[in-house]
Amino acid sequence: MTDRQLMSMAKEASLNAYTPYSHFAVGAALECEDGTVFTGCNVENAALGSTICAERTACCKAVSEGHRRFRRVAIYADSENWCTPCGACRQFLAEFSPDMEVLCAKAGGRYVSYRLSELLPHTFNF
Ligand code: THU
Repeated sequence: MTDRQLMSMAKEASLNAYTPYSHFAVGAALECEDGTVFTGCNVENAALGSTICAERTACCKAVSEGHRRFRRVAIYADSENWCTPCGACRQFLAEFSPDMEVLCAKAGGRYVSYRLSELLPHTFNF
């Protein structure tokens, strides 16, 4: 699967985002080491802190289906800025694959690529 195909799955996933509060839809497509892809969107809640980001939705879907090793994640939002993962999502993904590739898009579909280890150096662990 190409980066573009993975990003297009992320964009499609963003169409399911539940965002009555922020109106900011995000989609993620998480590729496992065996090639399986899990998608996710953000799911907001009236108790705003209970909101789940797109990346964590995809990660929980993957882990709950027995997948723990990830190669890439594509993140899409129809936004002015590159949609980089929030701090909580960086830590959450790093739990499983601290050096995975992170593709971050903005409106129009152009994207930039990082390693998770550059976005979150010195990941917390014990
Ligand atoms: N959001 C994500 O889904 N992923 C991120 O990495 C950043 C933020 C969502 C959470 C909330 O529903 C909306 O974007 C605005 O913060």
